[in-house]
Amino acid sequence: MHDAEALTGLMQVSQSAGRGEEAAGAGKKVFIKTFGCQMNVYDSERMADVLAPAGYTGTEDLREASLVILNTCHIREKAAEKVYSELGRIRQVQEARRRAGRDLVIAVAGCVAQAEGQEMALRAPAIGIVVGPQSYHRLPMLLEEHAKSGKTVIETEFPAAEKFGELPSPKRRAAPSAFLTAQEGCDKFCTFCVVPYTRGAEYSRPAAEILDEARRLTDRGVVEITLLGQNVNAYRGAGPSGGGWDLPDLLAALSDIPELQRLRFTTSHPNEMTAKLIAAHRDLSKLMPYLHLPFQAGSDRILKAMNRKHTMADYFRIVEELRAARPDIALSTDVIVGFPGETEEDFEETMRTAEKVQFAQAYSFKYSARPGTPAAEHDDQIAEEVKAERLARLQALLSAQQAAFNKAMAGRTLDVLWEAPGRKDGQLSGRSPYLQAVHAEGAHTLLGRITATEIVSASQNSLHGVIKN
Ligand code: 5AD
Ligand code: SF4
Repeated sequence: MHDAEALTGLMQVSQSAGRGEEAAGAGKKVFIKTFGCQMNVYDSERMADVLAPAGYTGTEDLREASLVILNTCHIREKAAEKVYSELGRIRQVQEARRRAGRDLVIAVAGCVAQAEGQEMALRAPAIGIVVGPQSYHRLPMLLEEHAKSGKTVIETEFPAAEKFGELPSPKRRAAPSAFLTAQEGCDKFCTFCVVPYTRGAEYSRPAAEILDEARRLTDRGVVEITLLGQNVNAYRGAGPSGGGWDLPDLLAALSDIPELQRLRFTTSHPNEMTAKLIAAHRDLSKLMPYLHLPFQAGSDRILKAMNRKHTMADYFRIVEELRAARPDIALSTDVIVGFPGETEEDFEETMRTAEKVQFAQAYSFKYSARPGTPAAEHDDQIAEEVKAERLARLQALLSAQQAAFNKAMAGRTLDVLWEAPGRKDGQLSGRSPYLQAVHAEGAHTLLGRITATEIVSASQNSLHGVIKN
């Protein structure tokens, strides 16, 4: 689940987070389908943990589930559409199940639940539970309530008491690389974005809680942690002995955990790239030389309309400072084309920005008007064909940059963390410091270890290597 796609800010990947540890038929089974960003991947795992004491084990097979959770994403139109089409498919299973005298409870969680919960329940009465991202710890209670009343239960308030203290910490034996939520929500209000509405205000977990969770992860064999947050570099949490901590403080403390070998964080806002955080990229050897830093648009006029509150000059300065601090740092980004009012000249500036920075990896999207956001109200929306044409040009450039970045690795020796068995027998799959997928022949005993690996060939999306020694 730790693939390149899942590591951008918010993506349209989907995956199921199930765990079929028990024999079929033993207890209740939950099938969780995750859409969107890695915050959702993390949340899905916590939902599975919160349901375990209520007798649920995970399954990746819908047919044996008695509870389905769709953990949804609302970031772009397509993401929400996918949820409705998935709901249609599951409703058929539910109907068949009911004809056979059994039930299948459908729960919708995540940002679509938060933003459109009421309408969803009306549009799709098959839904038993609608639960927003701040209320996952209440899932067992919501299930009981639904079982008693037989009615759709909707829980989308932002409760004052935050959820983290209530959620059980991860228990399973873990993969070598894990996500850990440090921060949630956003106060930036970019005019295109639903996150401030679906995830609420910025909240940073206390550092002690994060450090505890990190230690529990390393006790279970985790050697790489990616700190998550919609605005993770805006982290301002309570320090362990009073006083506030920022992200560099947290990264430094995590670096002191001996078993932890690699640290990453995502996703970041340019305005929160402080000198101290840039210095952390120079000073903390465990902090990997890779940063996801969305620029969204190359024209100052569009940036202003987006309410990004920075200029392109600011962005270029940050990139320069990062490269001075950590010369080999690989940069990744998010870009939107076709924001309302974007002219050909504005778009050319986006292209020039990409040419100037040279990204190792990038995610680019057509602007999608999200109901309730200010930009959706603009009357200078861009025609679909224009957006499509600009996106194609931009993606051609970004793909070429990614291919060039990967090709430049051939002949080099990189430290690779082996994370999972590869697709082919006898192969392993892992990640370079620059988050590239790497494949090599190797024994499973190397899983969870970092080895020097000589890169022999590279393609658009991955590297092939030979493990040294
Ligand atoms: N339309 C298109 N792209 C969007 N993003 C966020 N909101 C929208 C939207 N309304 C993109 C941004 C963000 C990434 C996670 O998704 O580039 O950084
Ligand atoms: Fe959305 Fe902007 Fe906040 Fe990122 S910084 S989550 S794009 S509002």
